[in-house]
Parts: sequence; C-alpha cells; structure tokens
Amino acid sequence: MSKAAECKCASSRQVATGDRAILPEGAKTIPIYVMGKKYEVPETLTIMKAMEFAGFKFLRGCGCRGGICGACPTVYRKEGDYKLYFGLACQTVVEPNMYLAQIPFYPANRAVYDIEKIEPAAETIHALYPELFRCVACNNCTKACPMGVEVLDYISALKQGDIARAAQISFDCIQCGLCASRCMGELPQYHIAQLARRMYGKYIQPRALHLEKRVAEIESGKYDSMLDSLMKMSHAELEKLYKEREREPDMSAPGAWMPKDTQYL
Ligand code: SF4
Ligand code: SF4
Ligand code: FES
Repeated sequence: MSKAAECKCASSRQVATGDRAILPEGAKTIPIYVMGKKYEVPETLTIMKAMEFAGFKFLRGCGCRGGICGACPTVYRKEGDYKLYFGLACQTVVEPNMYLAQIPFYPANRAVYDIEKIEPAAETIHALYPELFRCVACNNCTKACPMGVEVLDYISALKQGDIARAAQISFDCIQCGLCASRCMGELPQYHIAQLARRMYGKYIQPRALHLEKRVAEIESGKYDSMLDSLMKMSHAELEKLYKEREREPDMSAPGAWMPKDTQYL
C-alpha cells in the first residue's frame, strides 16, 4: 500500500463499534496520556474503551456509552497545540499523544422549584437563576459543548425572556456540565436551560391532540383485553407474533403506509 493510501485508510478508521475492545491481529497502538500517565492503546478505540484497555474501570463517568447520558465529559490537549479540546469519552476516538482527563461531574447550583406551582414566565427563571445576568458573552460555553449546542444563544434568549427559543436551542443538551466548567460568569447553564424546557413543555407548547386522544383510549380500557392476552402468551407465541407482525416497509413515503389491522390505531 502506498504511503498516501495507508494514511487515508488510517484516518478513515474513526469509528469504534461494539462494547468490547477486541484487537485485530497487528493492530496499531498509539500513546495517550491519562491524567499524566502514558499508555499504549489501539488507535481505533474511543477514549472510554482505550481507558478500559489500559486497565481503568468505570464506576462513575460512564452511563449509556452512546453519547446520550452526558456522564463522560473529557477535556484534552493535543501535542504541540495550545487549544483545549472537549469531547465525550464514549464518542471521541483517541489521537496520538493526547493528554486527557475526565470530568464526570462538575458542581453547579440547581434551583429548587415545584414545576406544578411556578409561573411560566421569564421572570421566574430570572428569580431562580439571577446569575443568568452575570454572563459576559465570552462564548466559552459554546466552544466547550460536545453536542454543538449554541449555549451562549440560549443564555441570551433567556436574558431576553424568550423561553421557547431557549428550549429549542438547548434541546440537544445532555447535561454533561462542560459549559459550566468554562463559564466566566459561573452560571449553571444546563440547569437553567432544563428549567426553560420544562416550562416550555408543561405550559407553553401546544398540546399534542393525538396524545390526549391516546391517553383517553388507554384510560377507557381499549387496550386491556389485548394486553391481557399478550400477558398470557408463552415466550414462543410472543416470538412468533413478533416475527409475523405487519411491518412498515423501510422506504415507504411518510404517511403512505397503513397496517391492515387498524383496530388499535
Ligand atoms: S449545553 Fe452544557 S451541559 Fe449541555 S451538552 Fe452542552 S456543554 Fe454539556
Ligand atoms: S461561558 Fe458563561 S459567561 Fe461566557 S458566554 Fe457562556 S454563559 Fe456567558
Ligand atoms: S457514557 Fe453516556 S454520553 Fe458517554
């Protein structure tokens, strides 16, 4: 293989799959530094798998392993690069000579409130989180976010009283806390945004009429007999039912497919 092809091949191997690090024969290893100590790890692994390969065992700082729970924020620097990088250990692939440390928890104050009793208004958020106005718009939070959330934008929206916009911008937040770790104004951004999303979900966004209809159907007992018969089936019967169920074709246009049996729709 030519040098260029070799290089291209190595850079395209960016995804580690599966839950275990099973090393192919002859796999290349690279040096990384975890909390200052050097380890040789396979180059295709995520930080999380590389640390496990090196002997670390995650009792904290690991949850879903799928980039959703926010338990595994990691900060790192690369050799010869002044920049501080941020990522999720379960999603970020190791690079040669990266220096990393995990920040599985970062202290951030969370206001106490009863969502059933609060007034869904910007003033409520301002009263619960007055530090919102300490934001100096440095944008460090946005740069630190491993989910690409425009953190400064949702903070600005909340300062302006726009709860809906803040809820929308912060939707992808996974509560990892990296934004708070970098904040010059010492804000707990993600807790503030969570309050905005809760308010929006409970009081502001239009009710989903189809959901209301379905809840009423459940409460009326429409599904009771069907659930009863499922509960009485054997494992084999359930498996057969599952395998033979009507399935939407993979490529059908939205709304174009309907099952033949519509009694529970
Ligand atoms: S907004 Fe903050 S807490 Fe949420 S994902 Fe981004 S860095 Fe993590
Ligand atoms: S890091 Fe803090 S001070 Fe800086 S823009 Fe974000 S919220 Fe504002
Ligand atoms: S373990 Fe859940 S986001 Fe990494």
